[in-house]
Amino acid sequence: MTPAEQSLKAAEICRLAPVVPVIVVEDLGHARKLAEALVAGGLPALEVTLRTPVALDAIRAMAEVAGGVVGAGTLLTPADVKAAKAAGAKFGVSPGATDRIIDACSEWDLPLLPGAATATEIMLLLEKGFTVQKFFPAEQAGGAPYLKSIGSPIPQVKFCPTGGISLKNARDYLGLANILCVGGSWVAPKEALGAGDWAKVTQLAAEARALRG
Ligand code: 3PG
Repeated sequence: MTPAEQSLKAAEICRLAPVVPVIVVEDLGHARKLAEALVAGGLPALEVTLRTPVALDAIRAMAEVAGGVVGAGTLLTPADVKAAKAAGAKFGVSPGATDRIIDACSEWDLPLLPGAATATEIMLLLEKGFTVQKFFPAEQAGGAPYLKSIGSPIPQVKFCPTGGISLKNARDYLGLANILCVGGSWVAPKEALGAGDWAKVTQLAAEARALRG
């Protein structure tokens, strides 16, 4: 799968809803219920970060939830890409981008949303064919004003910014022409998961879904 083909797929996934939940699963027992709660609230695309020992099993469990499109985040090595694909991930997200990660995603047919934070990084990814990129860490790297500025010289690249985004500032991003969606962990808070408060997760997801009416 070429980078251009990967970006087409990434765009399709990013357009499913205004927000992609960025999920950290500590307890495998939460995975399925969490995915069901988020999908029920209107957020079908889910990024499960490979930051916990159960992350790959969580992807396996969540991939069975009807209506969900589950991807793997925090891809740092080619081995992560291979394992994510084997677990059933439909897309991959990386905080930055390296040739090894990019080559692995092409080899394993995993649509990649590669991370970039500067004009040069964005241009290097565009040269390879990635027209859809993750902007990370969004708030810390300049936020919505930065992305608005980047949109003048490089309007052909569309972004999913993540990092420091919440219900409070998501609209600042979603109003820009070069933003397809935003990513954030606020819709799957640790406290709600710990308490098994799936109704709360669905409520947060529904609020996020309503960001774009
Ligand atoms: C991450 O990789 O942790 C994401 O960017 C989510 O960031 P957030 O927790 O600030 O939403």
